[in-house]
Amino acid sequence: MDFSKWVLLLLIPCLFIPRSCLCSSKPGLTPEELARIPVEFLNLAQKPEIVDYMVGIRRRIHEYPELGFEEFETSKLVRSELDRMGIQYKHPLAVTGVVGYIGTGKPPFVAIRADMDALEMEESVEWEHKSKVPGKMHACGHDGHVAMLLGAAKLLQGRLDELQGTVVLVFQPAEEGGGGAKKMIDDGALENVDAIFGLHLSVKFPIGAVATRPGPILAACGFFEAVISGKGGHAAIPQHTIDPVVAASNVIISLQHLISREADPLDSQVVTVAKIEGGGAFNVIPDSVTIGGTFRVFSMDGLIQLKQRIEEVIMRQASVQRCNATVSFSVKPFYPPTANDKALHEHFKNIARDMLGPDKILGMEPLMGSEDFSFYTEVIPGYFYYVGMKDESLGKMESGHSPHYRLNEDSLSYGAALHASLATRYILENQQKSDAAKESSHDEL
Ligand SMILES: *[C@@H]1O[C@H](CO)[C@@H](O)[C@H](O)[C@H]1NC(C)=O
Ligand SMILES: [Zn+2]
Ligand SMILES: [Zn+2]
Repeated sequence: MDFSKWVLLLLIPCLFIPRSCLCSSKPGLTPEELARIPVEFLNLAQKPEIVDYMVGIRRRIHEYPELGFEEFETSKLVRSELDRMGIQYKHPLAVTGVVGYIGTGKPPFVAIRADMDALEMEESVEWEHKSKVPGKMHACGHDGHVAMLLGAAKLLQGRLDELQGTVVLVFQPAEEGGGGAKKMIDDGALENVDAIFGLHLSVKFPIGAVATRPGPILAACGFFEAVISGKGGHAAIPQHTIDPVVAASNVIISLQHLISREADPLDSQVVTVAKIEGGGAFNVIPDSVTIGGTFRVFSMDGLIQLKQRIEEVIMRQASVQRCNATVSFSVKPFYPPTANDKALHEHFKNIARDMLGPDKILGMEPLMGSEDFSFYTEVIPGYFYYVGMKDESLGKMESGHSPHYRLNEDSLSYGAALHASLATRYILENQQKSDAAKESSHDEL
């Protein structure tokens, strides 16, 4: 054996020493005790009493879906449940938002978040708790998200003595395009908060599993609408008109070249024209055509650059056909990219491994979808992950935003237990760090 191998052998045990020393020297919990917390939370969350509680909440919210910034009844339900549990909260933030506080009211502060809004669509699932509101449906699982956060609150209340810090429960409005998270931040939801965790239910991953990745996980997104105006007239006499339909067609094709010819092929981007409106008759050229769509990219710089090029292409391409155009980007708020903090990724993996086992932590590619959770991760370290719902015995499950969307209620226990464990362990482990820092500064004196 040569010298370098000897050095390596000597070094390996040392790598494990600092962590175990830190834990055994403090009066708190041993690594074994820390590892048991997620298991105990899951056991508790799977007890009929907690399951029935969450399922009941979820079904009540499901029957009365409310759109972004109109979650008045949902918000009232959240507050009455927090009252019942004796949890203090702030309200209103961002119109209907609620922020609850469990623990000492002192640092560390760690937030767990749920979105509350439903979608403007008709439910096609025939079941006992089908939406009772025409044209509105919880088809993204946000009813389950609220139920899981309230379930987590119950779990955390049961272990209050361990919380030498504060868990901040963030119930936010308007995730679906309204940017409720931004308004929550403006209204002080993240005051003192050191880190935030958020989850989304997903039919893509099996029940009992979680999926996530460090770094970028969801794209930034922007929306645009453009009016291309010409001069209408008889469809058989085009020479007396300025045809906005042909101009709009060229605009749409040219917009597609932004990605195929201007973007780095290795940098994922999307431009989609999803809306086109113009004309109403077979023999009339209309005065104008309206188009609209969305664009996605993984950086804010990329988003701003794409926005500028979209505007240029629409204006200039319209003018090629003698039309004028106006472009608006204020139809919906832009969302930044969602990026998972690397240190929180390690924290998440530790907790999920302790609770579910290492084979239940699935990696995933970034998605071009967007989440307003990104507003939080812009300000403080944040972490977003998916909780699996897929269960072959339930038949084919449609993904979010489908009128046939069904939520596997067995997933609620996992989400609640993960919320509670991530927050509790975050406080315990960061408490240890600040205690250790205190101790070492004593030593120096
Ligand atoms: C485009 O705008 C210019 C300047 O306002 C105007 O003179 C022209 O008539 C417009 N053309 C169309 C097709 O609307
Ligand atoms: Zn959604
Ligand atoms: Zn959603």
